[in-house]
Amino acid sequence: MGCCASVDLKADREGEEYKGYDGKAQAKGSSQKVIAQKAPYAKELEAKKTYYYCDCGRSKNQPFCDGSHTGTPFTPLAFTVQESKTYYICGCKQTSHAPYCDGTHKKIDW
Ligand code: FES
Repeated sequence: MGCCASVDLKADREGEEYKGYDGKAQAKGSSQKVIAQKAPYAKELEAKKTYYYCDCGRSKNQPFCDGSHTGTPFTPLAFTVQESKTYYICGCKQTSHAPYCDGTHKKIDW
């Protein structure tokens, strides 16, 4: 499909490097997003509480920001929900409706 040439497939969580879709190492400050997982995160969220969605994919506390975006062009997205229930938060970081999953992960030829 060729839709994701600028996206890292998987971060190397043990070190400071991230592997790109082409297998080449990316510096921690890379301008490419990292795919945290190829499916959404089902999370129980509380109404009126502020959450910070990780947009860069580097957080170790997915799908929420842990500050690992430092040095990248990405910033977290603050959001609240009106109702306490389970929400499906984007894990592939390719959604068009952040922070929520829009099914894009099913359309990508991983
Ligand atoms: S760690 Fe990814 S946006 Fe903050």
